[in-house]
Amino acid sequence: MKALVATGYGQPESLCVTEVETPAPGAGQILVRISVATINPTDIRAIAGDLGNEISLQFPYTLGNDFAGTVVAAGKGVVAFTVGDEVFGQALPRSLGAFAAQTRPSLSTGALAEFAVFEADTPLIARRPPTVSPEQAAALATGGLTARAVLLTAAVIDSETVLVIGATGSVGTVLIPLLARTGAIVIATAKTPEDAKLLLHLGATRTIGFDPTNYPTGVDAVFNLVAPADRVGPIAATLRQGGRLISIMYPPASPEQLRRHDITQQFVMDLAGELGGMSEVAQSAAQGTLRATIAGRYSLADGVQAAVAFARDHTLGKIVVAIPGTSITSESNQ
Ligand SMILES: NC(=O)c1ccc[n+]([C@@H]2O[C@H](COP(=O)([O-])OP(=O)(O)OC[C@H]3O[C@@H](n4cnc5c(N)ncnc54)[C@H](OP(=O)(O)O)[C@@H]3O)[C@@H](O)[C@H]2O)c1
Repeated sequence: MKALVATGYGQPESLCVTEVETPAPGAGQILVRISVATINPTDIRAIAGDLGNEISLQFPYTLGNDFAGTVVAAGKGVVAFTVGDEVFGQALPRSLGAFAAQTRPSLSTGALAEFAVFEADTPLIARRPPTVSPEQAAALATGGLTARAVLLTAAVIDSETVLVIGATGSVGTVLIPLLARTGAIVIATAKTPEDAKLLLHLGATRTIGFDPTNYPTGVDAVFNLVAPADRVGPIAATLRQGGRLISIMYPPASPEQLRRHDITQQFVMDLAGELGGMSEVAQSAAQGTLRATIAGRYSLADGVQAAVAFARDHTLGKIVVAIPGTSITSESNQ
C-alpha cells in the first residue's frame, strides 16, 4: 500500500509517498481502509524530532492521527466494530505511544496511508454518522474533540468577553462558533482579511492581529491555542483580575512565565475522552454543532506538498488528504 512516510528525522520536504507493507490487525484491532486523513502539528513535530526525549520514532514512520474510513477486517475479540462500519477518529502512531492515554490508548500504524490498523477499544474512535462526510469527520476528530473539551472546561457565560489566540487553526475554527453560541463577546486573532471575514462569519464579534501589542485587556477568559509557555506572558496580561487562561499547549506555563498570581490557568488535554469521546463528537457533528473549516485539500499522491503547505504556509482551518480507494479482501471478526 502507499503511505506518507518519513525515512528519518527531518523537515516535511524530506517526506515521501512510497510503498510500505499493508498492516494486519491483531487481537483487539481493526484494519481500516482510509478515505480521508489530515495533517496535524504533531506530525510535523514528530518527524522533526521535536517531541522530547521519551519519543523515538521507528522508521519508516507513517504519519497521520485523524482519519475517516471503512473497517475492512477485525481481529479476534473486537466487539465495538464490524467489517463495513464507517468509522473516524484520532489515534497516535505507535511510536508516539508515550503520549497516549494509559488506559484504552488510541494507537495506530499511521493514518496517512491507504490502510491503517487501530486499537478498537478506545473512546477516540467512533462510527461516522451518515450525514457527516468523511472529510468533515476526519477534520473534526482532534479539532472537535479539543474544542468540546475546551468549552466544557471554560464554562463561559453570556456576559463575558473572551479572547481566542490561535483562532485561525483547526481547533480555533471549530471553537469560535461554540463560544459565539454562549452569547459571550468573542475576540479572535486573524492574520489576513480572509481570516477576519471567516472568523466573523463563524461568530466572532471582532478580530485583532497576531501582534501581542494589539491584545485587549480586562477579558474574562483567554484561550491559548498556539503560544508555547515562554510566550504566554502577554496572553495572561489580557485577563482581568480573577480571569481564566485556558490552554491546550503542552507544557503549561509556569507561574514565572504567567507573570500573574491573580488568575487561574487550566490546561486541557483529554486523551482519554473523559470530557466526551469521539461518539460525542459524532453526535455534535450530526447535529451541526461542530463543523470544521477546510484549509486545503490534497490527495495522498500530493501528501508531501500537503505537509509542506501545513508547515510553511498560513493555514485557516484543517488540511485534509483524500486517499483514493483501494480494494482488499474483507475478513469477518474472528
Ligand atoms: N492539548 C490538546 O489536547 C491539543 C489538541 C489539539 C492541538 N493541540 C496543540 O494546539 C496547537 C494548535 O493546534 P491546531 O491543530 O489548531 O493548529 P493549527 O491548525 O496549526 O493552528 C494554529 C493557528 O494559529 C495561528 N497562529 C500562529 N501563530 C500565532 C500567533 N502568534 N497568534 C495568533 N495565531 C497564531 C496559525 O497561523 P499560521 O498558520 O500563520 O502559523 C494557525 O492558523 C498545536 O500546537 C497542537 O499541537 C493541543
